[in-house]
Amino acid sequence: MAKPIHKAIFPVAGRGTRFLPAAKVLAKEMFPIVDKPLIQYAVEEARDAGIGEFLFITSRGKAALVDHFDHAVELEQALRERGDEKALQSVLPPSGRIFSTRQQEPLGLGHAVLCAREFVGDEAFAVLLADDLILAEPGCLKQMMGAYEEVGGNVVACEDVPRELTCRYGILDVAKDDGRLARARGLVEKPDPAEAPSTLSIIGRYILQPEIFRYLERREVGAGNEIQLTDSLARTIGEIPFHGLRFQGKRFDCGNNLGFLEANLAFALERQDLGPRVREMLKGYR
Ligand code: UTP
Repeated sequence: MAKPIHKAIFPVAGRGTRFLPAAKVLAKEMFPIVDKPLIQYAVEEARDAGIGEFLFITSRGKAALVDHFDHAVELEQALRERGDEKALQSVLPPSGRIFSTRQQEPLGLGHAVLCAREFVGDEAFAVLLADDLILAEPGCLKQMMGAYEEVGGNVVACEDVPRELTCRYGILDVAKDDGRLARARGLVEKPDPAEAPSTLSIIGRYILQPEIFRYLERREVGAGNEIQLTDSLARTIGEIPFHGLRFQGKRFDCGNNLGFLEANLAFALERQDLGPRVREMLKGYR
């Protein structure tokens, strides 16, 4: 039986160089999509998937992100007095327990996850990259939990990308594929399009077994001179089943400015209070 999952990790210690100067002192995961920071969407997705313990892997100068999930006593009081229940609910910390630790140097996503080793212990756990924002119902992690109960092991969220973009992603070498779940026999980080074993790319949602730490501990440096999560994941194949789930929904790469702008538009258009006015506003830009 698949080990239950209670813990989620949110690595937010990247440099965010594609978002300078905005990301100079503010983590890009705090940037708003309409009026809610990216990280809050990710935490809510995890909570809706049944997660009760949340760990932020932060870095110097990113204390605001942790503060965001604490009580803001004066603000809550003011909203209560004003009877603004909607705003009050939006600022309350999520139910569950919040933890944080620091990655002292941005040595790569694999290294950021390694910083969670003590927190995770011997349990299976989830990793969510908040700059991959996913519009889905049910949420992407919840869909992955369903797949995980079926197949166990390591499960990642996947989507097909145009072949010329494989050099931006971790790509699955597919052994078996039923159109929804693909079992991998290998993974390649950022392969050249000509060498990519498929076009099925890993996006920022992972359900992982604790065995991954045995490989992360080796701190081997890979693509981009960083300690890559994909490299350690690839090494677990053979020992632990590895599946990619084609989730139902739309993913926005909010780590780059075009994806971020598109997400703002898409989320605004979905909202009843904003959608019609945004549609009207956009007519002025054709
Ligand atoms: P990215 O690949 O988007 O890198 O990281 P980045 O450094 O944040 O951004 P650019 O490429 O310089 O613009 C994917 C996720 O992994 C986290 C990031 O915060 C982001 O959520 N990360 C990355 C870490 O926490 N630590 C790292 O050392 C690297």
